[in-house]
Amino acid sequence: MAVLITPATALRESFVEALGEYHAEGLPFYARVDERLLRDREGFAAYVRSVVLDALPGGWRPTFAVAQTTLWWVEGRRFVGRLSIRHELNDWLRSTGGHIGYDVRPSERRRGHATAMLADALPVAHALGIDRALVTCDHDNVGSRKVIEANGGIADAPTAEKLRYWVPTAPG
Ligand SMILES: CC(C)(COP(=O)(O)OP(=O)(O)OC[C@H]1O[C@@H](n2cnc3c(N)ncnc32)[C@H](O)[C@@H]1OP(=O)(O)O)[C@@H](O)C(=O)NCCC(=O)NCCS
Repeated sequence: MAVLITPATALRESFVEALGEYHAEGLPFYARVDERLLRDREGFAAYVRSVVLDALPGGWRPTFAVAQTTLWWVEGRRFVGRLSIRHELNDWLRSTGGHIGYDVRPSERRRGHATAMLADALPVAHALGIDRALVTCDHDNVGSRKVIEANGGIADAPTAEKLRYWVPTAPG
């Protein structure tokens, strides 16, 4: 059974292996993560630190200019996927990025992981003060659309780029 965890240095080997799969696929989120750097124990520790620190208010932001909590979806010591919860929306997130972004490593897709991972993340979003999470996906991303709808997503006005859904986060 997979669970959400705070990013951890103990998963280095599995994370780097997954990164190879993402790079082969050309997914933009991971394109700027240097696989060679992360093979090194210290380089990986620094990466994990930067991801964890991104959840803290204030300070320098590597990505969205708002704090975000990143969680890893793992089975034992196997890295399966990643999910990030942005603590608030700015203009770009409101139209395009949403509160929550996620991906599952290519070798683990179509096994229900993303659906379960988003479900397990909703109480975390709730605890962060997000009552309904905006989750977006490309118009042709059938898998992600199904993940959002399976988690109760209610469609809002789409943009030319994205389908936009509000997912209630309150338990029950
Ligand atoms: C989208 C993504 C997260 C789905 O992950 P996943 O673990 O394969 O999703 P699930 O196994 O929970 O699948 C949910 C549903 O979508 C379907 N599905 C998954 N991928 C699909 C695809 N490529 N084409 C059609 N249907 C797909 C599944 O069969 C399942 O359908 P069901 O509910 O009718 O049984 C994964 O493909 C991914 O990481 N893609 C790249 C990054 C990305 O697009 N992230 C989302 C950004 S919005």
